[in-house]
Amino acid sequence: MNTTAPIGVFDSGVGGLSVLHDIRAVLPNEDLIYVADSGHVPYGSKSQEYIQERSIALTRFLIEQGAKTIVVACNTATAAAATRLRSVFSLPIVAMEPAVKPAAAATRSAVIGVLATVGTIKSAQLAALLERFGQGIEVVTQPCPGLVEQVEAGDLDGPETRTLVERFTAPLMQRSVDTIVLGCTHYPFLCPLIADVVGADVALIDTGAAVARQLQRVLSSHDLLNQSEQRGSEQFWTSGDLRDAPRVFSCLWGRSAEVRRLPEQFL
Ligand code: DGL
Repeated sequence: MNTTAPIGVFDSGVGGLSVLHDIRAVLPNEDLIYVADSGHVPYGSKSQEYIQERSIALTRFLIEQGAKTIVVACNTATAAAATRLRSVFSLPIVAMEPAVKPAAAATRSAVIGVLATVGTIKSAQLAALLERFGQGIEVVTQPCPGLVEQVEAGDLDGPETRTLVERFTAPLMQRSVDTIVLGCTHYPFLCPLIADVVGADVALIDTGAAVARQLQRVLSSHDLLNQSEQRGSEQFWTSGDLRDAPRVFSCLWGRSAEVRRLPEQFL
């Protein structure tokens, strides 16, 4: 495998762009190809089989584009499909993990909250993490149906989004959490709004930066780090509607983004 080959990144939608920001910060010279499965979002309410099928299709597309490694920038797809992807494909696959471990280490009140999709909250992966790192602390888990759709629409601070954030954080604040795990890659884009609702004293933790560092370690151990001195490029693809995608991608990426539609056989 060529070290100059791109890194393939996918999510159920545009949320994984939060992870792409972290990857870009750690690996400035890598070429990145990002796929948003916005034609099938949200994954949170879909079956494990459905998410596995989509994850395999998107990985195939990224491999066709020459990807040297895959990042599953989606907690729900990680819980439902990471093991399956690793059994089907032989290239390195880096995936998410809700930040229960750092949150458990950081809390002073010994009460933490986890915001995630229905799929992640019900997953065996989260249950195993809570079993391992949640001993001796109280963990309040809260599914947040509807929040992913608000980010997909690029609505990061409107009244509807605020109402949902208030509703989903209220049970956490009632238990006096001092740390909240953002267990879905769409939610870091809502950080300013969530902080405004819960107050600046509550720490918000996600794992984008840790995943980017893990990706760097994995590339290094496979001798796949791009040694080029040049700044890497980004390519954006979606299975969703192209009319709105450039606006939402550009807003979340922070720069004007050209977005292409996935070829028919991957839709
Ligand atoms: N960004 C995905 C995650 O991290 C959202 C899943 C969904 O589409 O419901 O879980």
